[in-house]
Amino acid sequence: MDLSRRSFLATQGAALGALLLPGGLLSAVEAATPAAPALEDWAQVRAQFRLSRDFIHLAGFFIASHPEPVRAAIEGYRRAIDENPFLAVEQGLFESEATNLEHRVCEDIAAYLGARPEEIALTGNTTMGLALIYHGLPLKPGDEILTTTHDHVVHHESIRLSTQRNGASVRKIALFEEAAAATTEDIVGRIRAAIRPATRVLGLTWVHSATGIRLPIRRIADALDEINRSRSEAERVLLVVDGVHGLGAVEDSIPRMGCDFFSAGTHKWIFAPRGTGILWAPAKSWARLTPLIPTFSDMECFNAWAEGRPVKGPTIAARVCPGGFHAFEHQWAAGAAFRMHMKIGPARIADRVFELNDRCRRGLAAIPGVKLHTPLARELSAGINCFEVAGHSPAAVVKALLDKRIVASTSPYAITYARLSAGLMNTPEEVDQALVAVRALAS
Ligand SMILES: Cc1ncc(COP(=O)(O)O)c(C=O)c1O
Repeated sequence: MDLSRRSFLATQGAALGALLLPGGLLSAVEAATPAAPALEDWAQVRAQFRLSRDFIHLAGFFIASHPEPVRAAIEGYRRAIDENPFLAVEQGLFESEATNLEHRVCEDIAAYLGARPEEIALTGNTTMGLALIYHGLPLKPGDEILTTTHDHVVHHESIRLSTQRNGASVRKIALFEEAAAATTEDIVGRIRAAIRPATRVLGLTWVHSATGIRLPIRRIADALDEINRSRSEAERVLLVVDGVHGLGAVEDSIPRMGCDFFSAGTHKWIFAPRGTGILWAPAKSWARLTPLIPTFSDMECFNAWAEGRPVKGPTIAARVCPGGFHAFEHQWAAGAAFRMHMKIGPARIADRVFELNDRCRRGLAAIPGVKLHTPLARELSAGINCFEVAGHSPAAVVKALLDKRIVASTSPYAITYARLSAGLMNTPEEVDQALVAVRALAS
């Protein structure tokens, strides 16, 4: 047991007794949680993860291993809830603004995003956020959702399930033939050409888990702004982004990216607890949505129900935030992951993710018999690298790497590739070892 863990456990009893004192649960858990560790160099960051050292983990984007600050926060809230389930949840969720832990988490997320806390709804994952958007928009027969052939199954299925109910149509376009050869101009040009008068939504994925390409969302949003200039507010094309593999991997300000809705799980690159995600939108986008799941996050909805009257005011983020009881120790501990990113520095993290994955991409591209499907340009790539090895299926490549204790993955799409992805838990040497293994397979 390390020192921070010992001191954490030693202070538990005393601190949790403070649940009933002013400041309550939050202060109690904060007092009982070890101070944030030093995160000045990458060895210190890597040491936060309990990843088995018997493997080289190059599929970290799939689902997070909780780093120490997140484990400590989960443990603090878990103990508080286990010791006082009613008092802890009552205080953390319903008692007052000052003790509301959802608000506290939204403040941490907002500080990281450069957004306002009231623009954020907490979700369970990317999938839930996308479903809340597509089912909540006032789409009707005659309206069209334009999306692409490159998106994840959960994005396409959210659209299919919503259009089954609202009667809107769907069209899918290819943004490139070969991701590795794609250009910003061509992607933007194809989107501009595909928008029709009936198009109401453009659904895109920021960083594709099929090929690793990163879309130039700001440039696409600028093109949409031009098209929207001649449209009425109700006929605007709204930009919906699945941002899960960009958030925490590349440095871009979400509120300045120009999208109308941004959904991302935070249990991948952000390292927040498994089963957490965010949905971000500006106030005018929230106002367009009809909530789908009853909420516990907006008192007005409860008051209106209790008083038997309609809910007042436009839809706000809190009204879309799914209610019911959750794994609160996970939801409330999400803030610790965002604080960890802020402590390391989002720009430093983006540089590190680029450095490791650029090394991986260039290494793969240089191996005879390997075809890299991810663009090399920094602005069109992020932390996922997709490739093929001549004569081997992607599944066989992943198996051969696993035989050498290197964890890779295949992309779950109709056309599938092998993937290597490096994150903050990895080293350049690990990337090099994976490249040696791929070279041996290809030769
Ligand atoms: C592009 C993309 N979108 C969405 C998802 C699903 O994410 P979540 O588990 O947060 O719903 C994935 C899964 O990895 C993905 O690759």
